[in-house]
Amino acid sequence: MKHSPKSLLVTGGAGFIGSNFVHYWFEQYPDGRIVVLDALTYAGNRANLAAVEGNSKFRFVHGNILNTTLVEQLLQDEQIDTIVHFAAESHVDRSIHGPDAFLKTNINGTHCLLKAVKKIWLDQGVENHRFHHVSTDEVYGTLEPDAAPFTENHQYLPNSPYAASKAGSDHIVRSYHHTYGLNTTTSNCSNNYGSYQFPEKLIPLVIANCLDGKALPVYGDGRQIRDWLYVDDHNRGIDLIIRNGCVGNIYNIGGNNEWTNINIVTLICELMDQHHPQGAPHKNLITHVKDRAGHDRRYAVDAGKITRELGYMPVETFESGIRKTIDWYLENEQWWRRVMDGSYQDWIEKNYVYNQQ
Ligand code: NAD
Ligand code: TYD
Repeated sequence: MKHSPKSLLVTGGAGFIGSNFVHYWFEQYPDGRIVVLDALTYAGNRANLAAVEGNSKFRFVHGNILNTTLVEQLLQDEQIDTIVHFAAESHVDRSIHGPDAFLKTNINGTHCLLKAVKKIWLDQGVENHRFHHVSTDEVYGTLEPDAAPFTENHQYLPNSPYAASKAGSDHIVRSYHHTYGLNTTTSNCSNNYGSYQFPEKLIPLVIANCLDGKALPVYGDGRQIRDWLYVDDHNRGIDLIIRNGCVGNIYNIGGNNEWTNINIVTLICELMDQHHPQGAPHKNLITHVKDRAGHDRRYAVDAGKITRELGYMPVETFESGIRKTIDWYLENEQWWRRVMDGSYQDWIEKNYVYNQQ
């Protein structure tokens, strides 16, 4: 069943992937309309959307997905026909220190959104609608070194409070399709990197710390594996799913691009040696710290279904994507310095200082 989105509600659109999605969408579909709903938590930053603030087809609403009344009002006032649901607590380490916010936003928040769309779309007979839920490969748990990558049929075995809360939200979305007939789709994507990523996540943290001559913290032995995808390639996949995906279906998105953490940190150090020679060799900054509790060893995604059924192909190679990303952080130093303010420093203290080996 094809869908032609006209008026989008993008939850979490001031965060990393959501803001990149807004920019991607306006580039692809300049006539489209987007309303962003974002609570502006520590991870949300309105500056990420500065380039579209003057666009008459764009509206920013500072609000919470838990506020069902607000969501109902937006759905009606803005004649929303498509929701792209990014809003979440997204950092595994924070979920270990404080799981409550993850259950509240990721599970209850998703359910509040679903209740609102059921009331406005289903109860009022709006047939042309889509609810796209953005999820993660982490719901599948961890893989043995020689195991085949995750397919959509892989058992859900979430290991961190973050992954468990996302798994819970995936199940609730599924139930609203199965029980009430809501037109849902879900994507489970691997690790993203690119512009506007908060420097609490591995890649921007390493770039920022290289520039400041600070330690590059590698958890445990650094042999854990992640499958990295450039953020616009994730958003291209979401675009395909919204337009051409089969309702009720899950699609895995990934880059077929597995790296150990230590290799990725070393690669960034080598690239930073070229861009910022005064700090070279940056690999001298690599510091092994205490491992993350319950740390998943390996994630890898089989993106065969979205490739076969929807013709998905990532555009960016890892080499081109990581260079673009480093260039962006070099050109936008003010952006990341501003987000690394006092409260962020408190987090660094909590997560790393007490974790020294
Ligand atoms: P992020 O932490 O950068 O952004 C999350 C955004 O959601 C922020 O703008 C925040 O203010 C907003 N938000 C949080 N709670 C909210 C609430 N209750 N109401 C309204 N807004 C709220 O996250 P991200 O990395 O951009 O991830 C976006 C989505 O993609 C998440 O659902 C995440 O699980 C999923 N995902 C992320 C990755 C990744 O590598 N980053 C990979 C796969 C899937
Ligand atoms: P992260 O970017 O937090 O994403 P996720 O935990 O969702 O995969 O971390 C990516 C990998 O890098 C993960 O295996 C944890 C590791 N890591 C470090 O070794 N040091 C760090 O300082 C951070 C933030 C992550």
